[in-house]
Amino acid sequence: MQSSPSSSSSKQRYALVGTGGRAPMFLDPIADTYRDSCELVGLCDISATRLAWHQQRLALAYGTTPPPAYAAADFDRMIAEQKPDTVIVCTPDYTHHEYIVRALDAGCDVISEKPLTTSADNYTAISDAVRRSGRTVRTTFNYRWGIGATTVRRLIAEGAIGKVKHVDFEYMLNTSHGADYFRRWHSYKKYSGGLLVHKSTHHFDLVNWWIDAIPDTVFAMGDLVFYGKDNAVARGQEALTAYPRYTGEPKAAGDPFRFDLQRDPTLKALYLDAEADSGYLRDQNVFREGIDIEDTMSVMVRYRTGAMLSYSLNAFCPCEGFRVSITGDAGRIEYVEEHASHIITGDRDIKIESHGDEPTRLTLHPLFEAPRRVPIPKVDAPHGGGDPLIQEQIFSAHPPADPFRRGAGHEQGAASLLIGAAANRALATGQPVRIADIAELKSGARHLSQLI
Ligand SMILES: NC(=O)c1ccc[n+]([C@@H]2O[C@H](COP(=O)([O-])OP(=O)(O)OC[C@H]3O[C@@H](n4cnc5c(N)ncnc54)[C@H](O)[C@@H]3O)[C@@H](O)[C@H]2O)c1
Repeated sequence: MQSSPSSSSSKQRYALVGTGGRAPMFLDPIADTYRDSCELVGLCDISATRLAWHQQRLALAYGTTPPPAYAAADFDRMIAEQKPDTVIVCTPDYTHHEYIVRALDAGCDVISEKPLTTSADNYTAISDAVRRSGRTVRTTFNYRWGIGATTVRRLIAEGAIGKVKHVDFEYMLNTSHGADYFRRWHSYKKYSGGLLVHKSTHHFDLVNWWIDAIPDTVFAMGDLVFYGKDNAVARGQEALTAYPRYTGEPKAAGDPFRFDLQRDPTLKALYLDAEADSGYLRDQNVFREGIDIEDTMSVMVRYRTGAMLSYSLNAFCPCEGFRVSITGDAGRIEYVEEHASHIITGDRDIKIESHGDEPTRLTLHPLFEAPRRVPIPKVDAPHGGGDPLIQEQIFSAHPPADPFRRGAGHEQGAASLLIGAAANRALATGQPVRIADIAELKSGARHLSQLI
């Protein structure tokens, strides 16, 4: 690991911890589009191989001097030596709060990948650190920035359906993207908080932001009914459980869940080649023993505004996407997104099958009027085109004004993760959970926009 002296340039200085698959979302715009106003001053990870891979990749792609790399144990030294203005946290979810708190206490601002953290207690530690440091935390809810999600927000803010009373949100993960959460750290609740935190934080945040409301009470049911060894054996698919991982396994040749790290140069370099120094296996069998997260979940939420949410998530669907119906006292919005499996770089590509209809469609039903389609511009980019927009907002020296208030601080980050944390407690106890009983979230406020 190397170190370098801090520069005296006026550029915003960024250090990033967690150089895995998501890191390019932040590293590349800093090194490329926003290089005139931003500077990468340090990378930190438990894996020297992944660190070196990103260093080489950035140097090759952008002709820049690679930022110095630090082992995870040297995170504090990285901050002391490189003096970043902002630390970007892109590690597995259960470590977010540790790095956020340490960065804040060292005088840095923080950009954290979602979920902000995995539990109510961890959130309280973050909130305390924000208060004592006077620094800020930004939660990168990129789904808000998708063109369709923004259109829903605009319509509701314009009063197109009146005051929102109820939301029905059904999310489907397919057997490609959904299965991927069961291959690695996400499949253990202590690392990801389960999909109710790791994945649903996107969905709960969309609802909180769309209807501008703070959640109050949560009830949930959930189970592991498809992945895991017992479920495969019960379906008569014991053969799928016969190997601990997929890469290099001849018996997995016909397995629809196979995931061969050697088939993709990036996956090989980032994960297979780094196994020796990190012990991280990226391609474990989704039908192995020990998986303790749910693949099927139902959640009910009552908001401080009185609105209700009925939410479901299934992680083994043939199709992927979501349907949401938002009912107000002056009408209803029905919004559908049918996704391709764009996040996966595994063995199988899945196409969008929208049966002749638009894969992204929004219908506005005003009370006592004929329903009408609201056009959603086509965007051929991941996350509905949200990633480049949030990058511009974060890294541009002069970000455009955002009338939709798509930025989220630590409190708005908490508003969605606390629904997941409360849902996890409801699963464990069989009882509804009041969020005020697990964490403080600006008591007296009713609207999300009142939170930082
Ligand atoms: N917003 C989105 O759409 C989106 C998409 C993907 C991932 N994410 C989030 O980004 C984060 C990273 O996800 P990923 O897919 O890149 O995961 P990953 O497993 O590919 O990468 C995680 C990296 O963190 C490193 N790491 C693990 N423990 C560490 C520690 N204690 N200290 C320092 N480094 C450590 C690993 O070595 C690895 O390089 C997660 O919080 C995830 O929820 C967000």
